[in-house]
Amino acid sequence: DPTGTRTAGEYDLVVVANRLPVDVTVTDSGIETTRAPGGLVTALAPIMRDADGAWVGWAGTPDLELDAFDDDDIFMVPVDLSATEVEAYYEGFSNGTLWPLLHDAVVDPEFHRAWWNSYVTVNRRFATAAAKAAAPGGTVWVQDYQLMLVPSLLRALRPDLKIGFFLHIPFPPPEIFSQLPWRKQVVEGMLGADLVGTQRVSDAANILRSVRRHTDLTTRGQVVTVGGRWTRPERHVRIAAFPISIDTTAIAALAETPEVIERAAQIRRELGDPAVMLLGVDRLDYTKGIRHRLKAFGELLEDGSVSVPDVTLVQVASPSREQVERYKVLRDDVEVTVGRINGDHGALGKAAIHYMHHSYPLEEMVAMYRAADVMLVTALRDGMNLVAKEYIAARTDLDGVLVLSEFAGAADELGQALIINPHDIDGLKRAIMEAISMSSREKRRRMRSLRRRVIDSDVQSWAASFLGTLRATPARDSHV
Ligand code: G6P
Repeated sequence: DPTGTRTAGEYDLVVVANRLPVDVTVTDSGIETTRAPGGLVTALAPIMRDADGAWVGWAGTPDLELDAFDDDDIFMVPVDLSATEVEAYYEGFSNGTLWPLLHDAVVDPEFHRAWWNSYVTVNRRFATAAAKAAAPGGTVWVQDYQLMLVPSLLRALRPDLKIGFFLHIPFPPPEIFSQLPWRKQVVEGMLGADLVGTQRVSDAANILRSVRRHTDLTTRGQVVTVGGRWTRPERHVRIAAFPISIDTTAIAALAETPEVIERAAQIRRELGDPAVMLLGVDRLDYTKGIRHRLKAFGELLEDGSVSVPDVTLVQVASPSREQVERYKVLRDDVEVTVGRINGDHGALGKAAIHYMHHSYPLEEMVAMYRAADVMLVTALRDGMNLVAKEYIAARTDLDGVLVLSEFAGAADELGQALIINPHDIDGLKRAIMEAISMSSREKRRRMRSLRRRVIDSDVQSWAASFLGTLRATPARDSHV
């Protein structure tokens, strides 16, 4: 082994993500971890049980040194981040540069060299941890925009591995992506993978366009040929769409439990039995179009199209990235607007908008989905938007209407929703009115077709399809 000190690990499947799928709490007696329920870990846990799986990720708290530990079927490998790295790599480059840039620069991305340097350092740390964990010839699946350099860093350490990369968020056209001072390094970072997965076909096409613009590599259809400089013989990188989904069966089952059905009825009563309940559920993020949604609802109240207490909007905004400046600004904006609309249109015990800055357990979310007549997904840009899919999965009663932004990846699959452009406030208002007055026959027709889609394509089939494609890529000579 010419690499000398490095020895391969023992895990056949290694997932590398910014976050570990566990919540860590520090107690007097030490540290406690509980599995955080997320779509990705739900899909991968059974696969990892069969495959000997490890998960490399950050536990979410700065300066917390944790040893690796076993958690049911998954071996957890914590990556430590210092407080400075949380600021520069996570809040800075990941969420102040890449997040807005990759969402079509809906707010201005900031470019700082110190952030970039930290991003490189931390990506190298994740790559090193993955290289240590993976078995000879194993599969490593790298997740999302926080770790775009990991595929190539990992390939340099471990050319024997099959490496997959999945980008959960959009990839913009090269006209926007080219702003990034480190565009070439980021593109080449992803090309360390054998397979790059995106949410939409257009995201994959945009990556391919940036490859052509910023490297001298050749592309043919979905395939990039990488040769000579990094590896000999040449190798091929496939870039293609694999739209993510949800655990449809679990959500549908939850939606059918007597507890959730009763809770849904109770939510309507607690709201004062409105004729119509509108619902928005988002991380409090400027990409979600919450302000556009509030503007449309405020105008409908203003022009008398709807009135309180007949119609009420429930907006759940879960706290997110609260140290990042743009998120603080957004929170203030949203809360001023909610206060103004309630001040103008509410009455004692009759709020126009019920606004909650919390996150809730899945049971409560599913009860809200069941209770809501109209679900409003008005993202300005969104990789997929799983809330849209969860709403559909929860509506086993075939009731309810989904209003869905054309700028969410989900719109590619969910054509039977009321598709809107959130920038077109009049169009959004018309869609909300159409949703409110839609006949139950029409609702059932649309919901039946939407449900077919999320039942056929769930998160389990997504993971199987990505990993199946990755493993089918031709094996390479391992020239170590
Ligand atoms: C999006 C990203 C994920 C991220 C999540 C929560 O869904 O695609 O990578 O984990 O938001 O954001 P946070 O910054 O709290 O991890």
